[in-house]
Amino acid sequence: MWTKGQEDALKAAKTGHNLCIFGKSGCGKSTIIKEINKTLTQSGRVCKIVCPSGVACKVYDELAATVHSFYGLQTAELPAPLVMQQSLQRNDVVNQIQSVDVLVWDEISMSSLRIFHIVDLLHQKVRNNSLPFGGIQVILGGDFCQLKPIQSLLDPGDPIYKSVLLGTVFPHRIVLEKIMRQSEFEGDFKKALDSLRMGVCDVDTEAYLCGLSRRCVDIGDNVPPPIHIFFKKLPVEVHNSYMLSCLSGEMLKYESIDTGRTGLLKNTVPKVLMLKRGCKVMLLFNISKSLTNGTLGTFIDADQTDSKNESLLIKFPNVGVVSIPRKTWYAYRKDGQVQASRTQFPLSLSYAITVHKAQSATLESAVVHCSQEFDAGQTYVALSRVRSEERLQVIGFQKRFLLKQPAHIKQIHSAQHGDPVSSFTCCRNKVLESTNCELDREEDPSLINDENSIQVDEDLLNHEELILKYFASNQGVKQNFNQILQHMTNAEED
Ligand SMILES: Nc1ncnc2c1ncn2[C@@H]1O[C@H](COP(=O)(O)OP(=O)(O)OP(=O)(O)O)[C@@H](O)[C@H]1O
Ligand SMILES: [Mg+2]
Repeated sequence: MWTKGQEDALKAAKTGHNLCIFGKSGCGKSTIIKEINKTLTQSGRVCKIVCPSGVACKVYDELAATVHSFYGLQTAELPAPLVMQQSLQRNDVVNQIQSVDVLVWDEISMSSLRIFHIVDLLHQKVRNNSLPFGGIQVILGGDFCQLKPIQSLLDPGDPIYKSVLLGTVFPHRIVLEKIMRQSEFEGDFKKALDSLRMGVCDVDTEAYLCGLSRRCVDIGDNVPPPIHIFFKKLPVEVHNSYMLSCLSGEMLKYESIDTGRTGLLKNTVPKVLMLKRGCKVMLLFNISKSLTNGTLGTFIDADQTDSKNESLLIKFPNVGVVSIPRKTWYAYRKDGQVQASRTQFPLSLSYAITVHKAQSATLESAVVHCSQEFDAGQTYVALSRVRSEERLQVIGFQKRFLLKQPAHIKQIHSAQHGDPVSSFTCCRNKVLESTNCELDREEDPSLINDENSIQVDEDLLNHEELILKYFASNQGVKQNFNQILQHMTNAEED
């Protein structure tokens, strides 16, 4: 049964106007988007759901594509005009864009203004129509209190709410109020999540969250063990390495093949990938509709049948065993020249993930390792993944770690209905003078300080050395792994 807000969203979507569906984590935005997609498709319109990450697409089974794959943006690490040129040269991409009547874009908080404007321009060019998004209906879903876009060499990572388009062509906004992920019996948990969402925490909430440091309730043998969530990549690496060291069997080491200024590759994939047969892995690249960035699987072995090109066999649930070859990541200069490349298997271990890989998912259980937020809302996103407090363990929560949300965020989320006009001149048919803005970042790329990147010497990323170093700092007591992580997250802040 739909909530009142979900019914309103479905009704508004059927009118053909542009629409924003906002609301807290777990209020059913993605669930009603699925229904909107079904209803509009049945009425003969071609709908396409896109999400900024492969993990966010998982909520839609195979209905959704990542923004990057649908628009053929690759990693979008080329200057914007070249990114668009590359897309428009691909017939399959142009045909896909041409066919869409309704674009549905979920987890909008994680997409950047740069990508939003590139997609707008692609629709305009393909449809040869200078109206926003070429005049098609666009439905946005998300919560700007959740994670922001990640910066890259050319993308300053500005959120979409800074775009002139949001204020002008998205006047119709609905806010879903009722939380559906957690039940009515989770009052304390929901109250704590509400405060964390705004980055505030009173004494009672702090005490409540510190009380969740005990282990999760055991939920049976058929359920996978809890996923560990960290804010930064480094503790994720260490946790994964620790889990790998606990597995028996031969350690297999795969080194990347690098060219050029390798220092620019730190935001791609680690230089060294260590695996053992049977270990749990995550795919880091969109390979097909069912195998997207974020898909979880199990490493079987090296593919002996492919003697020329080395490949790895990975077993994915509902898909089977797939041979995964290496992929190449590039770092570009502003003029589009390649500066460096890394060729490596698009895989990482998956016992622990960063909070950026968790947004949008509903998890059976989770262990959240808190540390200083570098993006407001990280603690909120991490803790709100589970349905009940008994499925959650919160390690190292401190109120001082929280970042407050900007004051204007409430205003963006307030429900507005504008004045719907039957000619759609209130939204999708609004003629704008210009939405021109500088899409690529101006700063010297060498000055970028990406706080989510691993700020350690690459050599240290040899997992065995890394793990030994941290265990040595703890007198080699492996049982105290959580203390080591605590030490690491604190040390990183110093
Ligand atoms: N009307 C409903 N009735 C029952 N369950 C629902 C309803 N709407 C959503 N749910 C359930 O609530 C959970 C959260 O829903 P959903 O993922 O759509 O929320 P969301 O707002 O998209 O969350 P997030 O912001 O984290 O992406 C899901 O498990 C979903 O099945
Ligand atoms: Mg969602």
